[in-house]
Amino acid sequence: MAIRIVAFDLYGTLLDIGALVNVLRAHTPMPEAALDAWRQRQLQLANAAASSARYMDFDRVTLLALTEIAPRFHMKLQPEDVKKLIDAWAHLPAFPDALAGLDAASRRWFNPVVLTNAVASTARNALAFAGLGAQVNHVFSADAVKSYKPKQQVYMQLTSLGVEPAEVLFVSANDWDATGARQVGFHTVWVTRRRSGLAVKPERKIDDLTELDALLHEYELAVP
Ligand code: LAC
Repeated sequence: MAIRIVAFDLYGTLLDIGALVNVLRAHTPMPEAALDAWRQRQLQLANAAASSARYMDFDRVTLLALTEIAPRFHMKLQPEDVKKLIDAWAHLPAFPDALAGLDAASRRWFNPVVLTNAVASTARNALAFAGLGAQVNHVFSADAVKSYKPKQQVYMQLTSLGVEPAEVLFVSANDWDATGARQVGFHTVWVTRRRSGLAVKPERKIDDLTELDALLHEYELAVP
């Protein structure tokens, strides 16, 4: 079956969360460790919310994670600091290779979309800020199904475009996300921006999104 959709994860794949270190630096002497803890807690809370009846959206998850980790990093945050730190998730830079990846998908007529745990409006603002707004045809948010990746129903939203899972190529730098996408039957590319402790078994691996064009060409050739 030919691939018809290329779906990208947002945070860590198209947008560089590492830039949050610069915002955290004003509030803690350990900005790198604080960011790691913040992101880890954000993903834990999202997982917990996805598996319980008490769903909360990703903006609230991000806020709750920040307030939980702040004392550990000696962060005394005023309400305006908290607002600035949360807003920073919509003001991240694109990875230098993100545009090349999205452009490759468009040029080869694979409809490029984003599938993210972020609230759709936050994701759209973040894409626009990063200069990627025009390159993305559609943003699918976990919020629409009140759950979170890696739950299957979040990935399966893409079938509303009239495609089978086997017609989707999912691109993520998050190991657990690539694994989740594979489980619903998507073709999966893991972008190895970070080391992984998981036994990630994507169909393909690339170092960055400049390699996506050649990989998409291979998929085109593979169709009988
Ligand atoms: C996302 C997070 C999970 O954008 O990276 O979906």
